[in-house]
Amino acid sequence: MSNLLDRHELGAISLKNRVVMAPMTRARNADCVAASHNATYYGQRAGAGLIVTEGTPVSPQGQGYAFVPGIWSDEQVVGWRGVTDRVHERSGRIFAQLWHVGRLSHSSLQPGQQRPVSASETPADGVMTYAFDHSGGLGFLPVTPPRALTVNEIESVTAEFANAAKNADSAGFDGVELHGANGYIFEQFFNPNSNVREDQYGGSIENRTRFALESVDHVIAAIGDSARVGIRLSPFSQSFDMQPYDEAEQTYLHLGQELAKRNLAYVHINDQFAGGNRVVSKDFLAKFRAAYSGSVILAGGLNQQLAEDYVAEGLIDLAAFGQPFISNPDLPERFRNNWELAVPNKDTFYGGGLEGYTDYPDYGRVSV
Ligand SMILES: Cc1cc2nc3c(=O)[nH]c(=O)nc-3n(C[C@H](O)[C@H](O)[C@H](O)COP(=O)(O)O)c2cc1C
Repeated sequence: MSNLLDRHELGAISLKNRVVMAPMTRARNADCVAASHNATYYGQRAGAGLIVTEGTPVSPQGQGYAFVPGIWSDEQVVGWRGVTDRVHERSGRIFAQLWHVGRLSHSSLQPGQQRPVSASETPADGVMTYAFDHSGGLGFLPVTPPRALTVNEIESVTAEFANAAKNADSAGFDGVELHGANGYIFEQFFNPNSNVREDQYGGSIENRTRFALESVDHVIAAIGDSARVGIRLSPFSQSFDMQPYDEAEQTYLHLGQELAKRNLAYVHINDQFAGGNRVVSKDFLAKFRAAYSGSVILAGGLNQQLAEDYVAEGLIDLAAFGQPFISNPDLPERFRNNWELAVPNKDTFYGGGLEGYTDYPDYGRVSV
């Protein structure tokens, strides 16, 4: 009997199964406001136990890609309301992924065409983003080298996360997930290669994790319920020029211990793979479990069998699927019935119109 498809209580939220739709940027919002096509897309996937939205920037400065819907303005809140209503009509549950890209941005996307910000001035070498060139045309351009945030500015970013969480609440989300993974702002602070600060936000593990934990605390205070707050982490990630470091395991176990004190909805671990290999081992997951007593979601290269095994071994509570959810809107039903999975078209992952977005049919139906 499948444990993945059973109901699951996640903090205060009752989920219809343990299958999570992983957050996925799809970059289909020219004005950065969620709209009816997003409601259609997420509504089609409401069979997931929990949907985590695409990363939604907490401020214009947090924006790192063109055409991504944010969550800092009233207009954006109204846009997202259409999405949450549609998912709730279909008895789904949905969290907003709150995002600040830090150094992974381009000056054309930044307020006043300024440099993006980070823990330090360390640039992300060889990383490209979808931004505007001098003539205003869109294309893949190298990210702009960042400047270091001042302590006051760090506090402002924390406040932006809290404000975005309030906005998510007003938009009807069931909760929020702070994006602490994939080389974005919090990971830029965790990693001593990108964080060479000498103040209270750099140096020791406590200092490098302080910004993320303070942001979690402010988000909890803004929402008023820690059981509706989660965080995503990608231990040992090497994406977007994140370099390996000696204390990586201790850093994430420290985060686990600290997050355990906060009674969150969950910690969402994304295995980013490196060189085609898993970097989040079962051994690490067991250690993380010992450090962090709450619910754990795992994402990254999972299929139904692997996910069942991880849950059965007690290493995780829920399993998240990214690419399979793009091309299989009814993924949990396909798991339940052993139906064949459709393969997604990578060319339509980012940008463009409805093709490759809302036109993947449920099993046995014809695309309309
Ligand atoms: C098109 C695309 C966009 C993504 N955007 C995000 C994002 O906005 N936030 C995030 O945390 N991860 C993002 N990811 C990573 C996914 O959440 C997931 O962790 C990854 O795809 C691995 O899971 P999979 O092997 O099931 O696809 C994205 C992945 C894809 C394919």
